[in-house]
Amino acid sequence: MNRVYLASEDSLLLRRVLQRFSGQSCLEIGSGNGGNLSVLVKSFGFVVGTDLVPPEMPLGGGEFVLADRASCFRDYTFDLVAFNPPYLPSEEVEDPAVDGGRDGVDAALAFLEEAVRVMKSTGTILILLSSYNPRERIELICRKHGLTMTLEESERLFYENLAVYAIRRAQQ
Ligand SMILES: C[S@@+](CC[C@H](N)C(=O)[O-])C[C@H]1O[C@@H](n2cnc3c(N)ncnc32)[C@H](O)[C@@H]1O
Repeated sequence: MNRVYLASEDSLLLRRVLQRFSGQSCLEIGSGNGGNLSVLVKSFGFVVGTDLVPPEMPLGGGEFVLADRASCFRDYTFDLVAFNPPYLPSEEVEDPAVDGGRDGVDAALAFLEEAVRVMKSTGTILILLSSYNPRERIELICRKHGLTMTLEESERLFYENLAVYAIRRAQQ
């Protein structure tokens, strides 16, 4: 049985970065209990989250679709696509809230491929990664799609470093 992810340090770091962005439309892939959506509704006209598990709390704003990643949306739809993927290294995915597969990056890569598809050409992707995750595998996919990756903010916890990166089309 899948469980709802409860907001943690990673959620709060992503939330701080989200406050700097605005636009017409925004998607959070893997929106958990919807806390990040309630921040995004203050600066975006349309806000939606997807997850494999419905939120347990009433949404503080925005819409929710029970869906795999961004599979329910058309190409080039969103100004911002954000995600805090499951990122713990795991042999198998037993708990989709936290298990990220090989290097903890398989889930992030799958989210990223979908985010690239649904973001507008002028859009931005925000991705949260941990020091458990080799960034090179993400950078490789970015290069393949002509995207650049820049650090927005990081935080050192006693057991890991967390960082949020912005990913955009290289020519912007
Ligand atoms: C680390 S939690 C982050 C939750 C929330 N965004 C936050 O920051 O607190 C990762 C979320 O991704 C969701 N998830 C995992 N695989 C998914 C998939 N294929 N499609 C949509 N959501 C998925 C999990 O259920 C979980 O809610």
